[in-house]
Amino acid sequence: MTDRELLLAAQEVRKNAYAPYSDFAVGAALLCEDGRVFTGCNVENHSYPAGCCAERVALFSAVAAGVRRFKAIAVTGWQRDVAGRPCMPCGICRQALSEFSYDLRVITGTPDDILTHNLQELLPFAFGM
Ligand code: THU
Repeated sequence: MTDRELLLAAQEVRKNAYAPYSDFAVGAALLCEDGRVFTGCNVENHSYPAGCCAERVALFSAVAAGVRRFKAIAVTGWQRDVAGRPCMPCGICRQALSEFSYDLRVITGTPDDILTHNLQELLPFAFGM
């Protein structure tokens, strides 16, 4: 699975985003160490805090399937006025992902202009007990 393929999977699942309040559709594709890919989109709600980000939907699906080690996550977002700007994972999602794979590769941008970061770089000194 290449970074490009993972980003394309994120773009595909982004089509299912339920984002009537923000109009910001996000897709995420999480590559597990065993090669499986779990995807997620953001799901909003009338009661705003009840919604969930695409990254955590993908992460929690994977954990519910018994997977706890991950290699990479691709994230893609879209809204009219931020077109062209990469969609980076929010702070809560960075923390949630760090619980399982602090060395995760984070893939953003577009299939033709891919950006990669390490989660440790995006969330230095993550909280842990
Ligand atoms: N969102 C994500 O899905 N992932 C992020 O990392 C940042 C934000 C969603 C949440 C909400 O549905 C919309 O984008 C606007 O914040």
